[in-house]
Amino acid sequence: MAPAFGTLRICEDAADLAHKGATFLCAHAAARSERTIVALSGGNTPKPLYERLAQEPAKSAMPWDRVHWVLGDERFVPPSDPASNYGMARAAFLDHVPVPPENVHPVRTEGVTLDKAAHDYEAMLQGLYGADTLQPGKPLLNITLLGLGDDGHTASLLPHEPVLQVRDRWVRPCPRAAWEERVTLTYPAINASEIVAFLVSGEGKREILDKILSGDDSFPASHIRAHGEVLWFADRAAAGRWA
Ligand code: 6PG
Repeated sequence: MAPAFGTLRICEDAADLAHKGATFLCAHAAARSERTIVALSGGNTPKPLYERLAQEPAKSAMPWDRVHWVLGDERFVPPSDPASNYGMARAAFLDHVPVPPENVHPVRTEGVTLDKAAHDYEAMLQGLYGADTLQPGKPLLNITLLGLGDDGHTASLLPHEPVLQVRDRWVRPCPRAAWEERVTLTYPAINASEIVAFLVSGEGKREILDKILSGDDSFPASHIRAHGEVLWFADRAAAGRWA
């Protein structure tokens, strides 16, 4: 039985998922001589993976000088807010590793409007990319980490939101997101990743993951693709019959 899209990387449990995910990130970045851009996911699932990046062997294996870190989405709150994805990533690893400050690209969430925050983040990504138009053979992001909500959302691409229809912008404000104001990368930006790695853990995700892997395309996450591979890092609790 093969997934409708992507390749499964079955992990024993949440700790093994964190280990396999961190190992994958380090190996991919270390194998590249040029700059690597990693888009970080928010939420709870990635946190143990991020924490491993600040521990050996990952801390010594990661080529920190040539890896840039961006956010796949952000809640429009200050970094000090517990809901901040940037704040979570800083506490989990960015503040504990030798990453050059100029390699870390948070969404500005203070002293600007939501629209300006999205506009400026898009401009930052265009600066990293070197163009304001995506080119088919040139990925925008090298590795994009994504979580999966039990409603099938990913990043802040939530069901029924207008942002799902956006094809001409890389970053958009989400003023009506289900929970709070957010900024998110759009399908064009995320699908311009070299590799997308979903991180899916726990029994609570089993039903939605099964639907998506079975080909149900009625969810936002169902429409994520990549220039190269889509990987599903899923523990056995989430993978169910797919393990
Ligand atoms: C966010 C994430 C969001 C998350 C999913 C899964 O900012 O919250 O971008 O898409 O990945 O909601 O969250 P959990 O990993 O906490 O289940």
